Amino acid sequence: MNLSDARLALRDARRVAVLTGAGISAESGIPTFRDAQTGHWARFKPEDLASPDAYYRYPALVWEWYAGRYRDVMAATPNAGHELLARLEREKGDGYFLATQNVDGLHARAGSERLVELHGNLTTARCEVCAHIDALPAPADFVPPPVCSRCGGRMRPNIVWFSEFLPEQALEAASDAFTAADVALIIGTSGVVYPAAGLAFETLERGGTVIEINPDETDLTPRLSFSLRETASRGLAALMDG
Ligand code: APR
Repeated sequence: MNLSDARLALRDARRVAVLTGAGISAESGIPTFRDAQTGHWARFKPEDLASPDAYYRYPALVWEWYAGRYRDVMAATPNAGHELLARLEREKGDGYFLATQNVDGLHARAGSERLVELHGNLTTARCEVCAHIDALPAPADFVPPPVCSRCGGRMRPNIVWFSEFLPEQALEAASDAFTAADVALIIGTSGVVYPAAGLAFETLERGGTVIEINPDETDLTPRLSFSLRETASRGLAALMDG
């Protein structure tokens, strides 16, 4: 398959499923999970902060880290890649589905609605007592930990941590969409974290086309229909507007 075949496949597809990872937010200046470990945080491994065990032992430290990432995300804006995906949703309507591994909330801010956030969202918190979800206060007013607006309980970051399960409904919806997709787009993900990375194979197994957009080769590349070696925004522009 070449670029013009890929463009036609996307244009003609009635069902399109998209998976995004940290790469789509790189052009908004959001550091990837591992790149975020700079300065004071460089002495921690991600697993030391993003785990139930870390939170149980050091809740203030874990919240301080997430509060910093929250401030970074709120200071950023969605980029052309997020916006092109919101446009693709408007073009495909009911046939469109987006699953993201990102927790930055930028797809929703760009206008995506048929969206599941497989790994949670760092602009919200979840009550440890009653599971209620609240948006965090504006960054300037935010002093962690947040307190539940419904029951007054302590809230935790609304993130799927290492060793935790993905939200079942979100994963099922993603799996259904990738199984039914005529075309799947895999954008800005290294494809090493499962089960999200396995979604591409659900499309391939049903005879669908899977197109990757990533400046670098990934573990998924050899198995996919076509790979565009571009950034997310340039790759999407080439596919959608060519
Ligand atoms: N456009 C598209 N892709 C890009 C860009 C860009 N401008 N810049 C970098 N990339 C690609 C990189 O080549 C890499 O393949 O984005 C990918 C980012 O990979 P990871 O940092 O591994 O991010 P991701 O795949 O989203 O990680 C999955 O792992 O760390 C956990 O839970 C965390 O959700 C995360 C999951």
